[in-house]
Amino acid sequence: MAGEPVSVPEWQTLTGEQTRRWTEVLDHLVAVLPPGAATVVVDGGTPHSAVVAERLADTLHRLGRPCARLTDTTPLADEDSWHTDRTPDTVAIADGPRWRARPPTGKWDVVIWLRTPPVDPTAHRSGGNGCDVVVDLHDPGWPVIRQIADRLASLERWYLSESRAFFAIRAATWDTRFGDDLPAYRAAVTEARLPADGVAVDIGCGTGRALPALRHAVGPNGTVIGLDITPQMLASAATHSRDAAATLVLGDARHLPFGDATVDVIFAAGLITHLPDPEAGLLELARTTRPGGRLVLFHPSGRAALAARHGRTLDPDEPLAEAPLRRSTLHSGWQLTSYDDSEHRFLATATRQSN
Ligand SMILES: C[S@@+](CC[C@H](N)C(=O)[O-])C[C@H]1O[C@@H](n2cnc3c(N)ncnc32)[C@H](O)[C@@H]1O
Repeated sequence: MAGEPVSVPEWQTLTGEQTRRWTEVLDHLVAVLPPGAATVVVDGGTPHSAVVAERLADTLHRLGRPCARLTDTTPLADEDSWHTDRTPDTVAIADGPRWRARPPTGKWDVVIWLRTPPVDPTAHRSGGNGCDVVVDLHDPGWPVIRQIADRLASLERWYLSESRAFFAIRAATWDTRFGDDLPAYRAAVTEARLPADGVAVDIGCGTGRALPALRHAVGPNGTVIGLDITPQMLASAATHSRDAAATLVLGDARHLPFGDATVDVIFAAGLITHLPDPEAGLLELARTTRPGGRLVLFHPSGRAALAARHGRTLDPDEPLAEAPLRRSTLHSGWQLTSYDDSEHRFLATATRQSN
C-alpha cells in the first residue's frame, strides 16, 4: 500500500534486536567502502536516505575514519566546503537525488539505493538500476542488504547474515499469512508420486509446511529432512510440531550436508529464486540426488500472480521461466519432465540424469 513513508526510528527507540540489525548493516556498508578517499551517495527512500547517510557517517567516525557530509540541503555550488576540510582519506557521504545527479569528483565510488514502499504506486521506480548496493528498508527498524556489487565485496562476506535477516523477521507470522496454502502443498506432493520408504528432503523448508505431506508420502519407514538457512524458520517449524514429521537441519542449500547420490526426492518451494546463483544451486541439489531421483519445484501461486503481488512485471529471463529453467536444469544434471505455471500454482518436476 502506498502512503506516507514511516520514518526510521531513533536509535533509542529501537529494540535490542533492531539495534544489532542496524549495526550489522552499517558495519557491512562501511566494510565495502574502498580504502582511502571515497565518495558515497545514498539515494531512494526519501527522507530515509539522509538518516542512513548520517548513520553511515557516525559509523565511520566511530571507526576513526575521516568523513564529510554533503546533505540534501547543502548548496550544490558549495562543494568547496568539503574540499577544504578533507584529508587524503576523507570519505564524502551525500544523500538525495540532487547529489546523486552531480558527483563532486565526476563519479560516485559507491551508490547506495534504499528500497522502500512506493509513495505513489504508479510511479516509475528505476532509481535502483545501476546502484552498487541495495538496502531493503520496507521495515525501517529492520534494514536488509539485498545486493552488493561483486567489485565491492564477495557474496560470502554478506549473503548469509542478510538472507537470514530477510527471512528471520518473517518467520513468526509466515503461517498466519500463508497458512491457507497447505492443501496446495499436499496436492503437489501427492502429484509428484514420491517413492514409499524413500529419502525426501525439503530444501528451504521454512516453517515446514510441506513436511507432513512428505512424511505421509514416504511413509513411516522413509526419511524426511527439512533444511533451512534461517534458524527462526526452523524454530517456527518446531512450534507447529512439524519436527514430528521430519528431522530439521540448519544448513545452506549451496553446500548441502549430505553425501553424493544419497537423496531420492528434493522438494523446494520458493527457494530457487532466493539463491544468488540458481544454476549452481540446482547443481548442488543434483549432487546429492541419486540418478533417477526427482526434483519438485513448487510455489502455491503461479509466477504471474506472484509478480503482481510484489508489484513486478514478469521477466522472461527469470530463473523459473520455462526456457531458462529448462536450460539450467539440463546444465546441472536434471531433465525437466513437467512444467505448470498456472494462476494458482507453480509446479515443475525434473529427473536426475546419470552422470
Ligand atoms: C519463500 S521461503 C519458502 C519457505 C517454505 N518452503 C514455504 O514454502 O513455506 C524461502 C525459504 O528458503 C530459505 N532459504 C533461503 N536461502 C536459503 C539457502 N541458501 N539455503 C537454505 N535455505 C534457504 C529461507 O530461509 C526461507 O525459509
